[in-house]
Amino acid sequence: MRVVQVRRTGAPDVMRVEEAAEPRPGPGEVLVAVERAGVLYGDVLLRSGAYPRPLPYVPGLEVGGRVVALGPRVDPALLGTRVVATTVGSAGGYAERAVARAADVYPVPAGLALDHAVAVFQAGAVAVGLLSAMRVAAGESVLVTAAAGRIGSLLVQLARAAGAEPVVGAAGGPAKTAAARELGAHAAVDYDRQDWPEQVRKATGGRGAAVVLDAVGGTIGAQALEAAADAGGRVGIYGFTSGTWTALDTMTLARRGLTVTGPLGITFAKPAAQQRADAEQALAAAAAGRLVPRIHAVRPLEEAAGAHAELAARHSVGALLLAP
Ligand SMILES: NC(=O)c1ccc[n+]([C@@H]2O[C@H](COP(=O)([O-])OP(=O)(O)OC[C@H]3O[C@@H](n4cnc5c(N)ncnc54)[C@H](OP(=O)(O)O)[C@@H]3O)[C@@H](O)[C@H]2O)c1
Repeated sequence: MRVVQVRRTGAPDVMRVEEAAEPRPGPGEVLVAVERAGVLYGDVLLRSGAYPRPLPYVPGLEVGGRVVALGPRVDPALLGTRVVATTVGSAGGYAERAVARAADVYPVPAGLALDHAVAVFQAGAVAVGLLSAMRVAAGESVLVTAAAGRIGSLLVQLARAAGAEPVVGAAGGPAKTAAARELGAHAAVDYDRQDWPEQVRKATGGRGAAVVLDAVGGTIGAQALEAAADAGGRVGIYGFTSGTWTALDTMTLARRGLTVTGPLGITFAKPAAQQRADAEQALAAAAAGRLVPRIHAVRPLEEAAGAHAELAARHSVGALLLAP
């Protein structure tokens, strides 16, 4: 079968399509004939070497397709089912066949396109988890950075559905701020403009955002912190797509009365059953049309390097998928 191999870390073109033996599902595992594999920002970080991991490896933690083989001790009803799944070891998805634990497999709800199911089940579970970790309440203002991104675009929709108001989407450039508005943000600000924290303050009646969810870090993360409401603002940091984590100055936090948390750490520490329920909630919302992922593009396996380059160059709106 064809797979994308990473034999050394570096630029996107270290990813090469190669022939590899088909994996065999072990006890409690299934084999999925992959029709779609999600491309995550985390895949870019791993491939670039920003996060060390053993080499070689086949990237890809989320896939969609049909279950074509079962390992021992798996419910036979899964055979032939159309599913989305996270892969064993969070790797192996950029391939024609991938192995997943049966416990990490979700049947695709009737009427939901596979592209949409792949784009929402894992990213949506993360978004549901982030909002619940931040205890976002109806009527609270929420600022989301990378608001047109794979997770950000779902956060905007879910925050809005939870009654947050205003939901402010922040993103780089007019196309992405327009997308944030289309996704349901009450206001969208372009953080290519230096005065963007001021714009957030304006959009929140001068108070600043009660809740901030930041995936970018670096300068934008620091500015997002500036845009938080004094005397109680909660800032959730869940990524550093800029390449550096947000620097924190505890004196400023103490003086302004801000709380900073790591909502992803809370989300991933939840019992497996609750994380599964979050994914099921996201899939059900998508099937009901309440959560509509944006699909930036579906590319062939051979264009995995191009997809990574596109994501790193900040050209994507919504989810990028590979079609092996
Ligand atoms: N399981 C998971 O999915 C998981 C787990 C752990 C962490 N995360 C984190 O969740 C965050 C979002 O991931 P995602 O896959 O949904 O990515 P994404 O938001 O679709 O893409 C990353 C976005 O970050 C923004 N960005 C700002 N500065 C950037 C820079 N210098 N280089 C590249 N991008 C930059 C870009 O949006 P603008 O152009 O609008 O700035 C870009 O579109 C990431 O921080 C990721 O590490 C996800």
